[in-house]
Amino acid sequence: MKISGTGAMVVGGASGLGAATARALAGAGARVTLLDRDVDRGHAVAAEIGGTFVAVDVRQPDTITTALTTAGPPRIVINCAGIGGGGIRTAGKRGPHPADLFRDLLDVHVTGTFHVCRLAAAAMAILTPLDDGARGIIVNTSSVVAQDGPVGMVAYAAAKGAIEAMTLPMARDLGPAGIRVCTVVPGNFETPMASTLPDELRQGLVAMTPFPKRFGHPAEYAALVCHLIENPMLNGCIIRIDGGIRMSVVG
Ligand SMILES: NC(=O)c1ccc[n+]([C@@H]2O[C@H](COP(=O)([O-])OP(=O)(O)OC[C@H]3O[C@@H](n4cnc5c(N)ncnc54)[C@H](O)[C@@H]3O)[C@@H](O)[C@H]2O)c1
Repeated sequence: MKISGTGAMVVGGASGLGAATARALAGAGARVTLLDRDVDRGHAVAAEIGGTFVAVDVRQPDTITTALTTAGPPRIVINCAGIGGGGIRTAGKRGPHPADLFRDLLDVHVTGTFHVCRLAAAAMAILTPLDDGARGIIVNTSSVVAQDGPVGMVAYAAAKGAIEAMTLPMARDLGPAGIRVCTVVPGNFETPMASTLPDELRQGLVAMTPFPKRFGHPAEYAALVCHLIENPMLNGCIIRIDGGIRMSVVG
């Protein structure tokens, strides 16, 4: 699907990977709407790229519906909203893993992603198909943590694992409507979320990355998203972008 002139929605677009993707899509000629709960940064990024911002909390489906109504049905939907949360074992010296932290991570990542997908797909499904029968694409964001299972990341891994598990059934559900679904699995990327990691942990993560020995640039994540949009054979896929890292026992 071509990006130029196409309506795109970037959820979590006020920061990090989402903001980089919004910039790349706008640069390629898309009409971009940013959805985020961070109102100040959302407006700032939207102004910078000539896009629109709508305040959304992905845990609240009515806010997503409002955004879809305001912007109109998009053909491109990128899910980048997320929160971190790690360094806590299933049970350890401080007792059992807090249940509320587990629930919070699943609420934002799993339920939030699902709300965006189900509501956006319903809106997309009424669009006129393009010449090849395509109506649109949804790209979700997991993390290598879901596959590599580092210590202290059980809740985040569960949340991201669920996003990966939804990919194929969603692609099969939405295939008849001409809607593709792919999931990107980033390693470590330089974003505000990653900036909270302690120096020692960052150095350890870089050391276990074969090449390049650095955190990824958000623009590199965005470039992959643009390729997913443009290549119609990529569907139902879960694709790592990680410099070859396989996380060992860190966290
Ligand atoms: N940065 C990395 O190294 C990395 C690695 C693997 C996966 N990820 C995932 O990539 C995605 C983007 O992460 P990032 O590093 O750009 O983080 P970030 O903190 O820079 O951006 C996340 C954005 O999501 C928004 N957000 C959070 N909760 C929300 C909610 N309930 N409703 C709406 N918006 C909400 C935040 O306001 C923020 O703008 C996340 O899902 C994250 O888990 C990041």
